[in-house]
Amino acid sequence: MTMSSTPDDIRAAADVLRAGGLVAFPTETVYGLGADAANTLAVERIFAVKGRPSGHPLIVHIESAEQMTRWAREVPPAAQCLAAAFWPGPLTMILKRAEGMGDAAAGGLDTIGLRVPSHPIARALLAAFGGGVAAPSANRFGRISPTTAAHVLEEFRVGVVPVWTPPAPETETATALAVPDERPVIDARPVIDAVLDGGATDVGLESTIVDLTRGAPVVLRPGRISAEAIAQALEAAGITFEAGVAPGAAPAAPGTLESHYAPRAALRLMPRRDFTDVLSRQRGQRIAVLALEVSVPRVPVAVTRILPASSTLYARGLYAALRDLDALGADLILVETPPAGPLWTAVNDRLRRAAHDHAIGSRAERHTLAWKGRKPGAVKAPEAGAEADEPGLDEPGSDEPDAGGRGVAGETAEGREG
Ligand code: TXA
Ligand code: MG
Repeated sequence: MTMSSTPDDIRAAADVLRAGGLVAFPTETVYGLGADAANTLAVERIFAVKGRPSGHPLIVHIESAEQMTRWAREVPPAAQCLAAAFWPGPLTMILKRAEGMGDAAAGGLDTIGLRVPSHPIARALLAAFGGGVAAPSANRFGRISPTTAAHVLEEFRVGVVPVWTPPAPETETATALAVPDERPVIDARPVIDAVLDGGATDVGLESTIVDLTRGAPVVLRPGRISAEAIAQALEAAGITFEAGVAPGAAPAAPGTLESHYAPRAALRLMPRRDFTDVLSRQRGQRIAVLALEVSVPRVPVAVTRILPASSTLYARGLYAALRDLDALGADLILVETPPAGPLWTAVNDRLRRAAHDHAIGSRAERHTLAWKGRKPGAVKAPEAGAEADEPGLDEPGSDEPDAGGRGVAGETAEGREG
C-alpha cells in the first residue's frame, strides 16, 4: 500500500470507476467506498460488499455545485446558498432527485443526497472521473467508519479472490503430507478494487446531512458544520421558511434501523466519577477506558486512551481510538461523557448511537448481566430527570434524542447509516 496517492494512482482509480469497479478514497470526513453513480451494477456491488440493506441510500459525490442541477430536479435558493457557504466541504444536501438519475444510489427514493468533498484526493478523483461517485463510508454495515486507509483494509481487501491450488507434490508420498500444511487461511474480507491512501482524515466524523425537501431545512445527521452555522448562512442570505413542517412529523429518513457506529465491544457513556465503581463491579471483564485529556483517570486495571478536550481534535481521533480498543480485545469500553453544547453535538450523537447498540437488552448486555447473576428485568429503572447526556450505568438508552421533525436548530436522530 502506498502512503500517498500520485496523479497516476488517481487516473488509474478513475479508470477502475469507469470499468464499474469499487474504489475506496479519502474525503475530509471519513474514507468513502466509491462507484460510478450512473452504473447500477457497480452501485449494487457496494451494497453487497458492505452487507448494507437496500433502502439505505448512498450519497452521490460531485465535483462542483454546478453539477447539482444534473442530479436534482429542483435546486432551491437554500441549496445554492449552502453550497456557496460550505462546499467543497463536509455538508450533504438532500434534494429532490432528477428523473432517471442515481436510481440505484438513492435506493428507490424520490430524493438524492449530494456532496462536494474538499479533500484534494477526492476532488482529483472526481475531476479525473467526470461523473458522480456514489460513496458510503468504506466500512462493512454496522461497523465504525474508517478514517485511514489501514482501517479500510481492516474491512475490505483489494484484488481478485485467490483460488487456492495445492502445491505440486515432489513425490507421490509427499502429497498427503503437503496438503494439510498448506491449507489456506480464510480471509473473510470482501473484495474491492482499489484504495487511494490520503493519510488520516481531518474531520473524523461523517458529513452533516441537511434535508431541503421538506419545507424548512432539517438536519438529519449532525457533523462538523453545525445546525447553527447552517441557520446563520441561510439568514445572512435572507432566506426564511414558513414554520411549515408539522412538528412531530419525524422525517422518514432511511437507514434508521440500527444505531451503527458501534465497536464490537460494549460501550457505555458515563462521567469519570463512575469509572471506579463500574471497574470494581465488572471484575473479570476486559475493560478499556476512553477519557478526556482534562481528566486522566487513575484506573490501573483498564487500558486507557485519552482524547483531546477540543471537540475538533476529539472527533478526529474518536473512530481510530474505538477501533484500537476493539482490536485490543476489550469487552467493555467506558467512555467519559464529553461536554454538552453545540460544538460537541456530532461527537455526542455518534457516541450515543454506539452506546445504544449495547443498551440493556442487547446481546452484549444480557451476557454481562448473566455473568453477574442478574436478570435484565432486575435492572434499576432510569431516574426521572437524569442528565440526558450522562446516562448512568443502568439507564437503557434513555438519552436517545426524540425523533420529532425540527428545523435546523433542532438536530434529530435520523440519517443513520450502514
Ligand atoms: O461524510 C460522509 O458523508 C461520508 C463520506 C464518504 O462522504 N459518507 C457517508 O455515507 O457517511 P453513508 O452512506 O455512510 O451515510 C450516508 C447517510 C445515510 O444515513 C443515508 O441514510 C443518508 O446519508 N442519505 C443518503 N441519501 C439520502 C436521501 N436521499 N434521503 C435521506 N437520507 C439520505
Ligand atoms: Mg456509513
